[in-house]
Amino acid sequence: MRRVVITVDGVVHESEVEPRLLLVHFLRDVLNLTATTIGCDTGNCGACTVDLDGASAKSCSVLAVQADGSTVTTIQGIAIRGERHPLQRAFHERHALQCGYCTPGMIMAARDLLGRVPCPRPEEVREALQGNLCRCTGYQNIIAAVIAAGREQGGPA
Ligand code: FES
Ligand code: FES
Repeated sequence: MRRVVITVDGVVHESEVEPRLLLVHFLRDVLNLTATTIGCDTGNCGACTVDLDGASAKSCSVLAVQADGSTVTTIQGIAIRGERHPLQRAFHERHALQCGYCTPGMIMAARDLLGRVPCPRPEEVREALQGNLCRCTGYQNIIAAVIAAGREQGGPA
């Protein structure tokens, strides 16, 4: 077992973990933060995307021991002063989800994009989300929601 200290959604967690434990399993099984989902466990679907030290990362592709000393933000930690994040509101208002399984990862990847590109073009959204798969929506409403959230956050209308 290895001792790790990982800050998740603003809370510092000290835990003993097996060296093989994936970060996504640390979040879900050790911390009980189950909103971050697992689609493939092989780095392909993006459902498990979180923010790791300021950049989006697929948490099934990172070992918990690799995240030792890091700061992680999950979908459960992006609300702003108790209010839903603009991306969460936009996904809801623009029907950008159906089953919702991909949504936590989509929003975390989109949040990373909006941090770098406040008002992205549709093709920039598509490129940023190309590692996130959705089996339900056909993507159009997801792209529209990300653009709308960018505008709400201060990009040009
Ligand atoms: S569960 Fe991590 S990319 Fe699919
Ligand atoms: S809403 Fe079902 S997989 Fe995207």
